[in-house]
Amino acid sequence: MQRIHFNEVVTRDGFQNEPAFVPTDAKVALIDELSACGYAKVEVTSFTSAKAIPMLRDAEEVMGRIRRVPGVETTVLVPNVRGAERALECRADELNLVMSTSETHNLANLRMPRARSWAALGEVIDSVGGRTPVNVSLSCAFGCPMEGVVPEAELLLWAERFAGLGVRGLTICDTTGMADPAQVSRMTAALQARLAAYPGLQLTMHFHNTRGMGLANVLAAVQGGIERFDGSLGGLGGCPYAPGASGNICTEDAVHMLDAMGYDTGMDLKR
Ligand code: COA
Ligand code: ZN
Repeated sequence: MQRIHFNEVVTRDGFQNEPAFVPTDAKVALIDELSACGYAKVEVTSFTSAKAIPMLRDAEEVMGRIRRVPGVETTVLVPNVRGAERALECRADELNLVMSTSETHNLANLRMPRARSWAALGEVIDSVGGRTPVNVSLSCAFGCPMEGVVPEAELLLWAERFAGLGVRGLTICDTTGMADPAQVSRMTAALQARLAAYPGLQLTMHFHNTRGMGLANVLAAVQGGIERFDGSLGGLGGCPYAPGASGNICTEDAVHMLDAMGYDTGMDLKR
């Protein structure tokens, strides 16, 4: 049975888009429950500016209070060196750096051009110095709500550049649900070919279900050999700096589909 690994992003991607603050106690209780469900990873929070993402202003407290379960990694989103320092201080198991393949979205989300993000993330990776594994999330990889098409060559270029910096993994993000299954098949094949020199590199797909194609995209990716997916409990999610962004793929639905098809997700769906 082919093993598929899930990363639960509800408390980061899901909550960051919700209007009312989720109390810290509720976040900690939910993450502790999730950690018993068979996930490979839980993206607990982000170490961003409290002004940019007020929902996650309690990142330190949440990281300090959650139960650490062996085999379940805690990953956290980090936008800059300051965020990396905070994440390392909290003993995150993985740092998830973020940059957009679209210049316009990068300016809206991170307030800098991609060239500056590239330099800044390089500094972050240097400063981590291999102490903690680093993942890089490439946003708007299948299209940008502001620019429209993001050329495939752009994604391949950025993916290869970050792989060359020695990161453990890359997450290819369909930030606003623009991907279609044919595109996913093409891109997964192109990515794997382009990254063939990095056989240990973990490739994760992050789909949103904005246009109802989320599960179809998961299927296309699985059939293309992808083994890692982000999902969000109940399909919550969205980037506040990407117009029209709506929920991630629903983890329960994706796990149900893959379990039914005979894949080994390692998940306890009832729980
Ligand atoms: N943690 C906490 N505070 C931070 C921070 C971090 N990692 N990085 C910057 N800040 C604070 C600064 O101290 C400053 O605070 P002040 O206004 O009280 O002095 C403020 O944020 C602005 O800092 P600056 O360096 O000018 O950054 P910016 O305004 O250009 O913002 C980001 C850049 C990346 C920090 C900010 O846009 C951000 O956090 N974005 C989050 C993006 C995100 O998570 N999107 C959704 C997921 S894809
Ligand atoms: Zn997302």
